[in-house]
Amino acid sequence: MPESLSAPRIPAGLRWSTATSAFQIEGSRTADGRGRSIWDDFVDRQGAVIDGGTAEPACDSYRRTDDDIELLAGLGVDGYRFSIPWVRIQPGGSGPANSVALDHYEKLVDGLLARGVDPEPTLYHWELPSEIEAAGGWLSRDTVSRFADYAAMVADRLADRVSTWYTINEAAMTTLQGYGTGELAPAKQLLFGALPTVHHQLLAHAHAAAALRAAGATRVGITNNHTQVLPAGGSDADLAAAHAYDLVHNRVFSEPLLAGAYPDLEALGLPPMPVQDGDLELIGDSLDFYGVNFYNPTTVAAASGDSPLPFDLLPTPGVPLTGFGWPIMPEALRDFLVDLSERHPNMPPIVIGENGASFPEPGHAVRVQDDDRIAFLSAHIRAVAEAADQGVRVEEYTVWSLMDNFEWADGYTQRFGLVHVDFESGIRTPKASYDWYRDLIRDARTDA
Ligand code: NOJ
Repeated sequence: MPESLSAPRIPAGLRWSTATSAFQIEGSRTADGRGRSIWDDFVDRQGAVIDGGTAEPACDSYRRTDDDIELLAGLGVDGYRFSIPWVRIQPGGSGPANSVALDHYEKLVDGLLARGVDPEPTLYHWELPSEIEAAGGWLSRDTVSRFADYAAMVADRLADRVSTWYTINEAAMTTLQGYGTGELAPAKQLLFGALPTVHHQLLAHAHAAAALRAAGATRVGITNNHTQVLPAGGSDADLAAAHAYDLVHNRVFSEPLLAGAYPDLEALGLPPMPVQDGDLELIGDSLDFYGVNFYNPTTVAAASGDSPLPFDLLPTPGVPLTGFGWPIMPEALRDFLVDLSERHPNMPPIVIGENGASFPEPGHAVRVQDDDRIAFLSAHIRAVAEAADQGVRVEEYTVWSLMDNFEWADGYTQRFGLVHVDFESGIRTPKASYDWYRDLIRDARTDA
């Protein structure tokens, strides 16, 4: 067997999980009084999604929760990270809770617990109510208390039996691509004018975390998208550009949480964050774990031509690519984890909240022999083990994703699943990577 397909060395005691998000799998966008989110608005706009996909019915998971649970139980994961959409619980983003929707997620939670899988809900995986966006969205500080109210409603129903919670998924993507460049909802192109959305998301996280703990949750975290930044060359200009990109993609999100302060944005000529008294104390004391979603490194060079940004993002030379064209470099995950924990020696344990890859696979129902995905996951788990050897505390590893699903602006064109989904017929077929991950988890438990 080639080394790339062999079982990686496993960090002792690591928890194993897999993840999805509601908009990407559920369908049933108008069922049980669900409200509209910025993603409903996005997919309804002609030409916004590459293949015209509308996330309907996606994997039909709102109606097929039992089938999802069966797949998870078969995999033997410790945890299942899924999302509970604000627009189902509080359509319109304010007012009383929709109890039918809460019943739905309570049933999912109880079904998972009955099969020995820990439910790990995410409260915000990008489905901002359209009404909240109309009132300013994440640019407005009011959204913080709105989100905290919604979090308290969910906590009230579920935190007695759900211990692990993620508040916000990938604040970086919302800021950079949602409000900065417009590739994701709400499709604003404010460039650095998007920066206040960082602070409001982190503050919303901190208030939601407090509400969850007050209701009994014991393991509360956030998960951010992180990338290892590789300067394209050794010139001062490239190094300065790489530093600027590291600040706006990574450190502006991690440092308030892990060090209680923002990095020096003014040195880059950027406006300060809209911080008020007490905010940073709350944010800096809000975590039981820190989630890292990791997919690829980013090569950064000094801006050329008339770019409005102080950096250019370049292809990473000499490495293979995923179906999305993302560079595959597992050692970048190791290096990122080591750098982060060296910079923050007292940080809480890390959870890999997402890691995975898309590869071109057929659309029709078929058993996929996805050796490329197995090699990707295996190498990244090995990278986590190497980071652990260097003293990084990693508690959990999560594969994105349980099944092929709706990849946002890329529609159904990118398949990340351990389970293949035929979006025409709804047939789900476990891939070779599903069996591989199941066996890896089983063997890790036997060896423990
Ligand atoms: C991160 C996001 O959280 C998830 O929704 C998305 O599908 C994956 N990355 C892959 O792009």
